[in-house]
Amino acid sequence: MGSSIGKKLLQAVTGLSFCVFLIIHLAGNLTLYGGQDAFNAYVEKLHSLGPLITVAELGLLLFAAIHILTGTILFFQNLKARPTRYRVNKRGGGRTIGSATMPYTGFILIPFIVLHLINFHFADKTNQSLYQILSGAFSNPGYMITYIVAMIVVAIHVSHGFWSAFQTIGANHPKYMPVIKGAGIAFSLLLGIGFGFIPIYLALIV
Ligand code: HEM
Repeated sequence: MGSSIGKKLLQAVTGLSFCVFLIIHLAGNLTLYGGQDAFNAYVEKLHSLGPLITVAELGLLLFAAIHILTGTILFFQNLKARPTRYRVNKRGGGRTIGSATMPYTGFILIPFIVLHLINFHFADKTNQSLYQILSGAFSNPGYMITYIVAMIVVAIHVSHGFWSAFQTIGANHPKYMPVIKGAGIAFSLLLGIGFGFIPIYLALIV
């Protein structure tokens, strides 16, 4: 796995796994629209899974480490060989905002995820429910705007990552590529809009 292809493969598999995580995370978060009781019941059910959740969290952490490490190595390798980088961006997909900004949107998401985990995952939940923590956070316009911007960045990152990952794992038959590209755009819009409206909604109903 020392080769560039090996690293790209690792990045594709971990990236697609995050896509699966994000769709589950979004589905769970949509219970917020059902109000305080619906969301807290969902959180309680999730936490009742106990060790399963711990295993999933450790898996996410490991995958994040691999994704960031391989992405950073590939970024510096591509910087050293600029003409190759141009060719990689052009391979069959053309240059898009997503492809041109891929490493930068990725680097921006690292501090966002750290902030996000501090905000909600590691928040002190002894005297308040997760719903109260969320609505408290988004009543602060600074947090609300930070989250909306971060969701746009997530959508841009995924818009290219989704297509690129399928290309790397070999699903690059000309017949399927337009479908995969369309699915990538639809998926990134779903994430951007689905997650992006949550802070606005919670800020409005507080
Ligand atoms: C408005 C959008 C979002 C909201 C309201 C939200 C909400 C939450 C909440 C409440 C938790 C804590 C769950 C718990 O401790 O039981 C959490 C965990 C987490 N979120 Fe988000 N999230 C959002 C977007 C995202 C995005 C876009 C990502 C990734 C890029 C992400 C990644 C994570 C991760 C990795 C965890 C930890 C998962 C775990 O410990 O099981 N979230 N989120």
